Amino acid sequence: MTKSALPAHVGIIMDGNGRWAKSRGQVRTAGHLEGLTAAKKVVKAASDMGISYLTLYTFSTENWKRAAEEVGFIMGLVKQYLRGELNFYRENRIRIRHTGDVAGLPPDIAAELKAACDDTRDFEGMQVILALNYGGRDEIVRAVNRALATSAGTGPKPVFTEDRIRQFLDNPDVPDPDLIIRTAGEFRTSNFLLWEGAYAEYFISDKFWPDWTGEDLALAVQDYQSRDRRYGGLAGGIAGV
Ligand code: FPP
Repeated sequence: MTKSALPAHVGIIMDGNGRWAKSRGQVRTAGHLEGLTAAKKVVKAASDMGISYLTLYTFSTENWKRAAEEVGFIMGLVKQYLRGELNFYRENRIRIRHTGDVAGLPPDIAAELKAACDDTRDFEGMQVILALNYGGRDEIVRAVNRALATSAGTGPKPVFTEDRIRQFLDNPDVPDPDLIIRTAGEFRTSNFLLWEGAYAEYFISDKFWPDWTGEDLALAVQDYQSRDRRYGGLAGGIAGV
């Protein structure tokens, strides 16, 4: 079995905050609060481990269907995270980025996000990409519309290729995720990195997100390193046909 190197890009679907809270007789928002603490631990561990990109599925295009109080609470946590961790990003040279539809975010959150992205733009350490108001289908639709807008005019009809669509995704310079982790035992993509995750290795953890620590990340990475990535080809090339 081929041992893979450290994954350059890890994506995490942070699931199970609500169930974590319910299992303790607490309100759902208590789970999100503890989820924020877990996110801080995992970001630190990923940075220490030498992972280059970490995408956190923080709020999906579908999450607006939740009660206004819960949505407001999560947005408040995002704000708290972006502001409160600034010293930590500076110390660890962590760059903050965003994927998702910024136009659909409350103006104060969009402004906070922009400030954190601008402030950390030149840091050369790990990049933390917050997927906020993010949907994989929505990202592809926005990319296609951006591509169309740049080719509008009287010329020939634009031809779409994989490369052309990729250029218009939210962060075209970021490599595809090698490893996508989902917590709380669900086997679903839930619209996360649909385009970019085409060949990602999946790791499903039974633990609820608030219980996650750096050790869990290390175990997921270890598991990833035992996988044989073939990208639709055969192990060892075409030998053995
Ligand atoms: C999924 O759990 C979690 C979310 C929709 C919110 C994620 C937000 C955080 C972890 C806090 C903010 C983090 C950062 C990095 C700013 P769920 O509510 O769907 O859980 P359930 O499936 O058990 O109900």
